[in-house]
Amino acid sequence: MAEQRTFRVGLVGARGFVGRELLRLVRDHPRLELSYATSRSLVGREISGEVPGFPGGQVFLKSDPGVIERDADVVVLALPNGMSGAYIDAIESGQAQALVLDLSADRRFDDRWVYGLTEHNAGAIRSARRISNPGCYATAMHLALRPIIDLCATPPHCFGVSGYSGAGTTPSEKNDPEVVGGNVLPYSITGHLHEREVSRHLGTPVRFAPSVGGHFRGIVLTALCELRDPVSVGDLASRYDRAYAGSAMVEFDAEGSVDLRGVVETNQARVGALSVNKDNPKRIGVVCSLDNLLKGAASQAVQNINLALGLEETEGLT
Ligand SMILES: NC(=O)c1ccc[n+]([C@@H]2O[C@H](COP(=O)([O-])OP(=O)(O)OC[C@H]3O[C@@H](n4cnc5c(N)ncnc54)[C@H](OP(=O)(O)O)[C@@H]3O)[C@@H](O)[C@H]2O)c1
Repeated sequence: MAEQRTFRVGLVGARGFVGRELLRLVRDHPRLELSYATSRSLVGREISGEVPGFPGGQVFLKSDPGVIERDADVVVLALPNGMSGAYIDAIESGQAQALVLDLSADRRFDDRWVYGLTEHNAGAIRSARRISNPGCYATAMHLALRPIIDLCATPPHCFGVSGYSGAGTTPSEKNDPEVVGGNVLPYSITGHLHEREVSRHLGTPVRFAPSVGGHFRGIVLTALCELRDPVSVGDLASRYDRAYAGSAMVEFDAEGSVDLRGVVETNQARVGALSVNKDNPKRIGVVCSLDNLLKGAASQAVQNINLALGLEETEGLT
């Protein structure tokens, strides 16, 4: 049998919470191999000193657009919002043939980039060379709402609680264990970026109120909807069953509990806990939980890279 090809990955922003998860996923992926990883603060340090399992002598390179000249079939950008542009310009002028996946919000509003919501956009992702990965809360909102959005009479209202790793590593009150420990902090309750992102990609407005909690990782998101017509839990369940029956990464359980512990440190999202108000069966609720660093970021990125490279969607993720 012919040997299967390995694809070389360049990872820009490898020190961050998402970057570290990506290092681990690339290390364990049978068809991906790390070409380079960058960081400003870890330049010259052994990668295996941060994430064990990389060859001795393989060190972090400096984060600089010049790094793009190095050999890579896939370039993954895991930088804070607003930082990807210089790297994308360098790719377009030097390595335009590379598959590029950006984890920041910088290209989520750019129609030239394919939105990497794997379960609902796989066809476009398979032929994409430029993929913008969805936000973590945004992924949870899409997974909860897409199967029933056409039934809604008014904009759905979503409420999400995230672990403080969602705020990245740059110090702020939203990731300070002294502030968030044993606490829940509501923030951006009428203008969060992910509200705009989901409204844009769903093609209909959504309202979203986030909070950050005292746990490190994981999101639980509740969506409340007013429908045009009365429904039963069974009616809704058949829609979610159809949407996620073939999905390896979304587990649907109509009336099962959807909590944080069931998804933390896994690649799976859970959707369920369907509820229909008994006095007004046009009012419904649905819950989605996922690990913000994995299905909300790094493992969804690998699902998308797999599809775009023509590999099995779950390769390296089982
Ligand atoms: N955290 C989540 O749950 C989550 C989920 C979905 C999407 N995302 C998105 O994924 C991206 C990475 O998130 P994260 O949580 O991993 O962030 P993070 O922990 O703050 O990491 C940011 C990374 O970028 C580097 N960096 C910071 N400022 C930089 C600059 N000015 N120039 C070049 N490199 C810089 C950092 O390393 P050095 O300082 O060593 O250079 C680090 O590797 C963000 O765009 C975020 O919105 C995050």
